Amino acid sequence: MKISVIITTLLLLCASVAHSETIAIIGTGSVAKALGPEFAGLGHTIVYGSREPRSEKAKSLVAATGNDSSAALPADAVVDAGIVVVAVPGLLVEEIVRGLGDLSGKIVIDPTNPLVGDWETELSLGVATSNAQIIQEAAPEAFVVKAFSTLNWRQMVEPEGPISILMAGDDESAKIRVAELVSGMGLEPIDLGPVKNAHWVEGMTILWLNNRIMPRPDFEFHLRIVE
Ligand SMILES: NC(=O)c1ccc[n+]([C@@H]2O[C@H](COP(=O)([O-])OP(=O)(O)OC[C@H]3O[C@@H](n4cnc5c(N)ncnc54)[C@H](OP(=O)(O)O)[C@@H]3O)[C@@H](O)[C@H]2O)c1
Repeated sequence: MKISVIITTLLLLCASVAHSETIAIIGTGSVAKALGPEFAGLGHTIVYGSREPRSEKAKSLVAATGNDSSAALPADAVVDAGIVVVAVPGLLVEEIVRGLGDLSGKIVIDPTNPLVGDWETELSLGVATSNAQIIQEAAPEAFVVKAFSTLNWRQMVEPEGPISILMAGDDESAKIRVAELVSGMGLEPIDLGPVKNAHWVEGMTILWLNNRIMPRPDFEFHLRIVE
C-alpha cells in the first residue's frame, strides 16, 4: 500500500473517531428503531433508555444496532451521552424528560408530536406551545433541537426522494451538530429558527397526518432552498 494511501486512511480514521460520540435514545419504539441503527452507522455509540432494558425487545434492538450499543434505564442511559433523543409518546414528554435527571450541556433532539384527537377523523396539537418548548423549560441548560418529527420512521431509514428535516432550536451550534447527523442519513436539514418555532413545525405534522386521514393528497416535506 502506498504511503499516501496509508496516511489518508489514518486521517479519515482519526476524523471519524474525533466525531463519534455517545447518543442516548430514550424509547425502543419505531423512531428509536429507525434512528439508532442510522446513527450507529455514522460511527456513534448508542445507549437506548428503556423502562425494561433487559427485555427481548431491547436486546434485539441492541443486537441490530451493533457498534458497542447497549440498553439501560432512561436516567442511566443519558449520563455519558452528549446527545439525547427523546423518542417517546408525545403527551408524556415533560414527565419523561424530568425523570432523566440533569441534562445540562447536552443536545436534546425532540422528534415527538403531542397528538390529540381521532386517528380516523382529525388530529390536533395537544399542547398550547410545543413539546420542544416544554422540554427546553424542563431542562433549561440543555440545547433542545426539534427534528425528525414531520416524517414517518420508514423515511428515516430509506428516504424515497429528497426529504427536509425541519429543525427549530435556540442554540446555533447544537443545530449544526444535528444537521450533520441529518445529512449523514441522506436527509436535508433546514433551520427554521428558534425553539418557539417548534409550535409551527409540530403544526406541520398535524397538516401532514390529517391529509393522510381524510384522505387528501399524501406528501413528504421537501423545502427547496432559494440561493
Ligand atoms: N412512528 C413514526 O413514524 C414517527 C415519526 C416521527 C415522529 N414520531 C413521534 O416520535 C415519538 C415516538 O414515536 P414512536 O412511533 O417511536 O412511538 P412508540 O413506538 O410508541 O415508542 C415509544 C417508546 O417510548 C418509551 N416509553 C417511555 N415511557 C413510556 C410510557 N409511559 N408509555 C409508552 N411508552 C413509553 C417506550 O420504550 P420502552 O418500553 O423501552 O421504555 C416506547 O417504545 C412520538 O411522539 C411520535 O409522535 C413518530
